[in-house]
Amino acid sequence: MSVHKEVKKITTHVLQEMKNNGEKIAMLTGYDFSMAKILDKAGIDIILVGDSASNVMAGHETTLPITLDQMIYHASSVVRAVNRALVVVDLPFGSYQGDSKQALTSSIRIMKESGGHAVKLEGGQEVVESIKRILSAGIPVMGHLGLTPQSIYKFGTYTVRAKEDEEAAQLISDAKLLEETGCFAIVLEKIPAKLAKEVASSINIPVIGIGAGNGVDGQVLVSHDMLGINNEFNPRFLRKYHNLYEEMLGAFENYIGDVRSSDFPNEKEQY
Ligand code: KIV
Repeated sequence: MSVHKEVKKITTHVLQEMKNNGEKIAMLTGYDFSMAKILDKAGIDIILVGDSASNVMAGHETTLPITLDQMIYHASSVVRAVNRALVVVDLPFGSYQGDSKQALTSSIRIMKESGGHAVKLEGGQEVVESIKRILSAGIPVMGHLGLTPQSIYKFGTYTVRAKEDEEAAQLISDAKLLEETGCFAIVLEKIPAKLAKEVASSINIPVIGIGAGNGVDGQVLVSHDMLGINNEFNPRFLRKYHNLYEEMLGAFENYIGDVRSSDFPNEKEQY
């Protein structure tokens, strides 16, 4: 029986049952009320208030500049729109790397001020103490391994991670450690499909992939990317479900034309 269709609200326990039943988990990013309402209506399982808001909402080149206050603003807008989906909120760069106390304080602010349901942070062994401390306050934690964009200046590029044996072995060991520590799920970003499949079958918690192939327990994409809002971002892993860039451009051009020609507003569009 489908767990997904039966439940009124997605919880971390529902996600675990979905993995146990072999049902795939669908996750997308959301940063604002209007889009989150549509995502929830469509039946998405998890809305990630990702720090990718730094790129797609604020126009920064990396995820590093977004602040905790800004993440809380985005997350609270999303939470107000949602009835069913689990809302996971990224801990932004600089809000948890200091020490486990800072990680807990930032997570408590997210939960208290936005109403989000869980937090996500990047890293393996180096963030275990922080994860333990966040969990001790009853806050569910999602891990994130592989390409971790908050470390872009360490990696130097956004290319596929863990292609070499040593990095792959470290990733498998980190995934096991995150499971042991108590994460309810892990995102794997931009790693070979074979490795992602191996991770998903060697741990019991759900593994959600982005650019990690189809052998994992669910998929996540940045909503703006899959809607084709940015026509300059075309990585191999991205499936575009719409060309909103062209659609929106056309609509804006039509509006500008109608205003300039005095076609808008007409008799019916005024009081
Ligand atoms: O911030 C984000 O959108 C993410 C996804 C790419 C997983 O972390």
